[in-house]
Amino acid sequence: MTSNMTDEVKSMVEQIDELSENLPRRGFLKIAIGLLNGVLALALAVPGVAYLLTPVFQKGSSTWIKVGRPADFIKTEPQKATFKYISESGYSRKEKNGFVWVVADPDSPDGLTAFSAVCSHTGCNVAWRAAAALFVCPCHGGRYSKKGEVVAGPPPRPLTKLGLKIENGQVSVRIQS
Ligand code: FES
Repeated sequence: MTSNMTDEVKSMVEQIDELSENLPRRGFLKIAIGLLNGVLALALAVPGVAYLLTPVFQKGSSTWIKVGRPADFIKTEPQKATFKYISESGYSRKEKNGFVWVVADPDSPDGLTAFSAVCSHTGCNVAWRAAAALFVCPCHGGRYSKKGEVVAGPPPRPLTKLGLKIENGQVSVRIQS
């Protein structure tokens, strides 16, 4: 009987020893799994956060685009200057067509002024109407003078003046995203 009890105690002591050896290993495994989960969560979160923030960083960026020779625009009527540009939204990049209005302007150093075609009301594109000698917005009847000033309708501001430069016989306008 005493021998049986001794064997049982020995067995229990061995089990406790085994458990105490395993405890630090379990603790290490818990920490390792926790760290791994953290790394995985970060790996998944970083591209998502970058995707959400990218448009914020891009907003307000601008680029110069060649639109033609000065002679193409030094005319009595405003001229539509068309171009292609890359539109970036998040990670998507698409080639799009755009246009601005270029007006002969003797008061400007380059003799030309460029206007965005985007109406300041809710963003429709304005068109030059030679008969009225005005830029007319088809959406709500906004009207602008040849100098881009509002003369009628709901637009709250003039047409946006764009940067314009002439280099090596080429007219470039600054397009903002
Ligand atoms: S969008 Fe041009 S008048 Fe409303």
